[in-house]
Amino acid sequence: MPAKRGLDRRNFLRSAGATALLGALGAKDAAALGSAALDFTQERQAFDFDRHFDRIGTDCTKWDGAIADFGSGIEVGMGVADMDFSVVPAVTRALAERCQHENWGYTRTPQSYYDAIVEWNQRRYGLEIDPDTIELTTGVHPGLIAALQAFAPPGSRVLMTTPIYSGFYSDLRFTRTVTEDSPMHLVDGRYQIDFDDFEQRARRANVMILCNPQNPTGNVWTPEELTRIGEICLRHRVVILSDEIHCDFVRSGMRYTPFASLPNRDIVDNSLTFKAATKTFSISAMKTAWYFSTNPDLLERARDFTRSDLTTLGIVATEAALREGDGWLDQLNPYLDRNQQFAERYIRDEIPLVDYRAAQGTYLAWLDVSRFADRIGAERLAAEEQRASGDEVTPEQMMQRWFAEHAGVYLSPGSSYGTGGAGRMRMNVATTRTMLERGLANIAEALASA
Ligand SMILES: Cc1ncc(COP(=O)(O)O)c(C=O)c1O
Repeated sequence: MPAKRGLDRRNFLRSAGATALLGALGAKDAAALGSAALDFTQERQAFDFDRHFDRIGTDCTKWDGAIADFGSGIEVGMGVADMDFSVVPAVTRALAERCQHENWGYTRTPQSYYDAIVEWNQRRYGLEIDPDTIELTTGVHPGLIAALQAFAPPGSRVLMTTPIYSGFYSDLRFTRTVTEDSPMHLVDGRYQIDFDDFEQRARRANVMILCNPQNPTGNVWTPEELTRIGEICLRHRVVILSDEIHCDFVRSGMRYTPFASLPNRDIVDNSLTFKAATKTFSISAMKTAWYFSTNPDLLERARDFTRSDLTTLGIVATEAALREGDGWLDQLNPYLDRNQQFAERYIRDEIPLVDYRAAQGTYLAWLDVSRFADRIGAERLAAEEQRASGDEVTPEQMMQRWFAEHAGVYLSPGSSYGTGGAGRMRMNVATTRTMLERGLANIAEALASA
């Protein structure tokens, strides 16, 4: 596929401030922004999420990983789920203070760390967690893997409503368990669980992984949906692992329901919840997370497979974020709301080959690119590539390459997200508005001549 981009926009981005970049948008770009462009000045509050924060050259997965995969033509990294903003100042301050003490021997996790987790969940969601039921992990993945090892022997089935977070499939590979995908249906722009199908599949599964809110669709599950899931899983003795790592990002007007807050104690006692502050505060490489359960038996069984050795800096950063991050997050969420709305409007007005309805939660955008796939013959391209390489290649991977080469934008291929990912790409909008506009404008320009 020939790359068409002549302009080295990445260098341009690196040397341009946000204002200069906005001024440099073409007349068509500026017109396309419409009323959304006017929002810029209103968003300047105490934390400046409009400030471009260059991550290139720090070995970050989102940008440097994309460039490693597709070359220096990548101008906008919109893949892996972390954010481009500088972190809460309290985190940097706490880390800097700790770095003054130049010894990094083994560390213990202080009680104040557990208390910070308890208080965060109480303060933000009214969720009461007994600190003795919290198990620390070096990420949600290690926690899920421990629980899978405890409840799902190799060869057993793990139920998931799909499309769903690609990383769960690697957890299944790691534990030699087998996926039981229950495909969701799009109804009026929102994914709905097919509960008949779900129940059929629950009969043969040991464990369900729930994603609340759901990556990549952005669904924020209602108490009724969660209860129905819980009832079916209880009926068929399927242990629920509720991954709620994205819970701090829901769009205004939406409400996150912790699975553990459901009124039916039997349903809650059939679950473990997995959470972290890392996604919320963009400290993912600090490798901290936790899980908890109201059921001592489930908890003990998962603990048998858990080894949690947190790092000093991970503890310091996470506790600072949980204790002092409320204000930052409360300002960030409306910014992300507007990014989601902006993406929806821009795509509707300027990118006719793509469909998108703003997500209810997360900072992810699950794009329908099926008409574009037809336009470039993605299926045929994938078949040709597969024949040439001998590797399995999906049409979505071909589209990923197309977007990288023609638009300079890195998107995640829908085929990684299980059944229902065909004809889809996932776009991360947790970046400055300017960068989001640049990504969308690049895509619009590239698709216009596709
Ligand atoms: C739903 C979900 N769970 C888990 C993870 C990874 O969690 P961790 O980095 O804590 O292992 C991600 C990262 O994108 C995610 O989206």
